[in-house]
Amino acid sequence: MCGKRVMTDGIATISYLTTASFGFGASALLAEVLAELAIARPFVVTDPGVRAAGIAEEVVDAACEPGRVTWFDRSPPNPTEAAVLEATGAFRAARCDGIVAIGGGSSIDLAKGVALLATHPGPLVDYAAVHGGVERITSEVVRTIAIPTTAGTGSEVGRAAMINVGGRKLDFMSPRLFPARALCDPGLTFGLPPHLTAATGMDALTHCIETYLSPLVNPPAEAIALDGVERAARWIEEATSNGRSRPARWNMLMASMEGALTFQKGLGAVHAMAHPLGALEDLPLHHGTLNAVLLPAVLRFNEPAAPEKYDRLRRVVGLGADVDLAAWVADLNARLGLPDGLAAMGVPPDVLPRIAEHAEQDPATETNARPATRTDYYELLRASLGD
Ligand SMILES: [Fe+2]
Repeated sequence: MCGKRVMTDGIATISYLTTASFGFGASALLAEVLAELAIARPFVVTDPGVRAAGIAEEVVDAACEPGRVTWFDRSPPNPTEAAVLEATGAFRAARCDGIVAIGGGSSIDLAKGVALLATHPGPLVDYAAVHGGVERITSEVVRTIAIPTTAGTGSEVGRAAMINVGGRKLDFMSPRLFPARALCDPGLTFGLPPHLTAATGMDALTHCIETYLSPLVNPPAEAIALDGVERAARWIEEATSNGRSRPARWNMLMASMEGALTFQKGLGAVHAMAHPLGALEDLPLHHGTLNAVLLPAVLRFNEPAAPEKYDRLRRVVGLGADVDLAAWVADLNARLGLPDGLAAMGVPPDVLPRIAEHAEQDPATETNARPATRTDYYELLRASLGD
């Protein structure tokens, strides 16, 4: 049965919205948390890469007898409705009573989709925020324990899931979608390759910057966002160049969590464009890489709307008062080995009008620092194409 107690030193318990156990070795608390939540038949959601690396097995085998566990290890790079439906069928067939999501944002978001559909009638699209779905998530969903293996999305402490439905990347959002618990173990990110460390790290940095710049009034969230900006700016290069660095991995996972803790303040134009770009069929684009590439143009666009906040961001990052924050991000992208524009990622210019149209309708547009129209988005996309 699932329920062996493991004592681990040096792990902080942080109760903000989701209770997170954070620190090296935190994933070893899985047995204890399963017992706390009275989950006897866990459904483990992960992706083929994490499964092949042995990370998920190590965590699960230490906590559970094999006969009690049902695996779903086919999370796609961007969660899709088809994958959610397949996984929900497997969850029901095995009569599972809880979910353990081990992986990046894709696995955790897919798990949230399963938690929702296993407790609410379909179709999934009815629950998308853009279709008024927030009000339709009316009862508790399946309890989920989230164990991140990347430092970027922060989905382990977030109330949202991004899922591709019919070629659109839709936002599913509800306080009920918060994972019941998060086990944030920086040691699980040691094996993340440099390019993914850089790309997911830029996602975390972008979350912190966009939420900080959001015009909604929420100083506590801004304080968390600024702390995340400082950590990510300080440690992303070391995490990328030296994946075994304990302080770099710890700080990047913390920056990732902090970015998601501030989500309630809203994101901005970077994410409004990254969402439709990430849903392009036949062109799988990494979310964090998209954010990295789009961030400089959006920073230039937004600066007139929030000059004092830009001054504070420069101070937190350690830049002089006359340094262009957008140029700093572009230089950072180059040092991290990330693409210098959308063109280098394979985005053809002829899709930009459609992306601009969808970006204007994306919920993240509402909290961008400066109002952005479809025309603005088109110009931002063109400015982000690169050479
Ligand atoms: Fe993101």
